[in-house]
Amino acid sequence: MNQEAMKEASSYIQSKLSINPSIGLILGSGLGVLGEEIENPTIIPYKEIPHFPESTVTGHKGQLVAGTLEGKQVIAMQGRFHYYEGYSMKQVTFPVRVMKQLGIGSVIVTNAAGGINKSFKPGDLMLITDHINNMGDNPLIGDNDEAFGARFPDMSQVYDRDYIQLAQFCAKELGLSIQKGVYVGNTGPAYETPVEIKMLRTLGGDAVGMSTVPEVTVATHAGMRVLGISCISNMAAGILDQPLTHSEVIETTEKVKETFLQFVKKVIHKL
Ligand code: HPA
Repeated sequence: MNQEAMKEASSYIQSKLSINPSIGLILGSGLGVLGEEIENPTIIPYKEIPHFPESTVTGHKGQLVAGTLEGKQVIAMQGRFHYYEGYSMKQVTFPVRVMKQLGIGSVIVTNAAGGINKSFKPGDLMLITDHINNMGDNPLIGDNDEAFGARFPDMSQVYDRDYIQLAQFCAKELGLSIQKGVYVGNTGPAYETPVEIKMLRTLGGDAVGMSTVPEVTVATHAGMRVLGISCISNMAAGILDQPLTHSEVIETTEKVKETFLQFVKKVIHKL
């Protein structure tokens, strides 16, 4: 995934767009529905875009949707690429670099996550305040192109403080109680064992998922401002005496969909 590939992909997308998006949305499992709210949409299937990987997981659509949302010009990924699908970290984060090339300065990254914090409940939304990269890999490994960002990027403020404040304000206006916490990125695809969840809680994690960390790492490297929102789709392993299933994840995101839409739209409105 070199700079030329990234330029080809962004030129192709640019040639399809009649707008100049400033906000990028990365929509996780079951949360792609936000893309359907975009007005005057231009839809670009990933398979049409040069060098774009294709998404394989159920509940993910695999297309870009660009248009207007709450008066802002946005481009949304309906479905993302996961490390567990077998893509490299470079492939997983390729669309973020493309977004940067398209002139996007802010990204809203959403995901479904398991609740580690016992005070959470399925259906809660959590603003990500920080993360733990527990993936054993990093998308910035390899040659560093200074045109993208620094060799050793600062990660002390990945999740924009002003955005978190704004999002909290929006939640309050909607009468929505919202959680804040630390997201742990695991590779998956296996869910965690109960003891792993205990360990992650000890380490300071509040929620765990299989995405987000690669994308926000590359976004931060590129100087983009990030807002991260997790939908707590289930309690993580060992908290409740029941097995974890992908259908539970999708069911919860389906239930919380309306609240999620209302909330993210309000945030975009005020961004
Ligand atoms: N663990 C990891 N990833 C997840 C979970 C979980 O419990 N729920 C949704 N994504």
